[in-house]
Amino acid sequence: MENTGITVMEHLLIHQKENPLATGNFTRLLSELIFSAKIISREVKKAGLVDILGLTGKINVQGEEVRKLDDYANRILIYRMQHCGVICAMASEENADIIEVPDHLPKGEYILIFDPLDGSSNIDVNVNIGTIFSIRKKKSDRKYVTLEDFLQKGTEQIAAGYFLYGPSTMLVYTTGNGVDGFTLDPSVGEFLLSHPNIRIPETGKVYSVNESNTSYWDDNVKETVNYFKSPENERGKPYTSRYIGSLVADFHRNLIYGGIFMYPADKKDPAKPRGKLRLLCEAAPLAFVVEQAGGAATDGKDRILDLKPTLLHERVPLFIGSKKDVEKATEIMSKGC
Ligand code: AHG
Ligand code: MN
Ligand code: MN
Repeated sequence: MENTGITVMEHLLIHQKENPLATGNFTRLLSELIFSAKIISREVKKAGLVDILGLTGKINVQGEEVRKLDDYANRILIYRMQHCGVICAMASEENADIIEVPDHLPKGEYILIFDPLDGSSNIDVNVNIGTIFSIRKKKSDRKYVTLEDFLQKGTEQIAAGYFLYGPSTMLVYTTGNGVDGFTLDPSVGEFLLSHPNIRIPETGKVYSVNESNTSYWDDNVKETVNYFKSPENERGKPYTSRYIGSLVADFHRNLIYGGIFMYPADKKDPAKPRGKLRLLCEAAPLAFVVEQAGGAATDGKDRILDLKPTLLHERVPLFIGSKKDVEKATEIMSKGC
């Protein structure tokens, strides 16, 4: 009999004993999230074939144009997760406020935060995009969820990860016991364990940053990026530059090959002095994944997972990837402070 592989649900059940959080409710949440991602993946794959490309004409809470697939992915996730019976509220990059599960539906204690479609500027050009998620538990004993339930440190995450819609669709996630990667086998519609116990190399060869922002950076940011480009760095030769412009895809490549992704603060927009990426739906979940894989994530000074947000859509500078590379970046960044 050929080895047909371990599905993500089998994997979760096998490890349920080691992980007290992997209760029936958590399994239910994850399986609904996986089903939603399969639907999004199907739509992403046929994006060039149907009238789903282009913009909806709406502007999201971040002031960016919402593309049709962003909107579609957001609606699928909200609808399906509202009906899964084990969560009480959600927050999406695309919605200004928290999204509560209506009273007529069964609720649970979990909170889901997501970026429904990350890298959406790449949709129309057939480049990898993804969905990032963070799972937490309601803090308060109150009947209704409040903003406070969402403004938790990243260390409070129960699970986090992402779906990557690339040549293959992948799921990479952690429940705090290492990181595993699964690849969707489209012929059977199941995610199969393809990357068990992912470990990020201690140092990498890649730096990823949008260098067109150079003139808006502080000197310590310039010095940090120059370090990775310099032949006199600790590696003795320049790192190579790779930048897709989809955080989830840039992150995934660096997770597997090693390297550092940087989105520093810039002075371009005085309303965004703390960078572009969102703490709750982008930085914190990926920081949980990278730490569980042996890497690190900081805002140039402090550990991302220790930051307590004060706003739902708080932005944060991000330096994430191989441990030694992030430590080096943080050392240079802090010198200039
Ligand atoms: P989103 O598509 O969810 O709005 O996120 C876009 C983000 C992220 O994916 C990427 O790393 C970054 O924007 C790219 O920004 P620049 O185009 O400024 O480099
Ligand atoms: Mn995003
Ligand atoms: Mn997005």
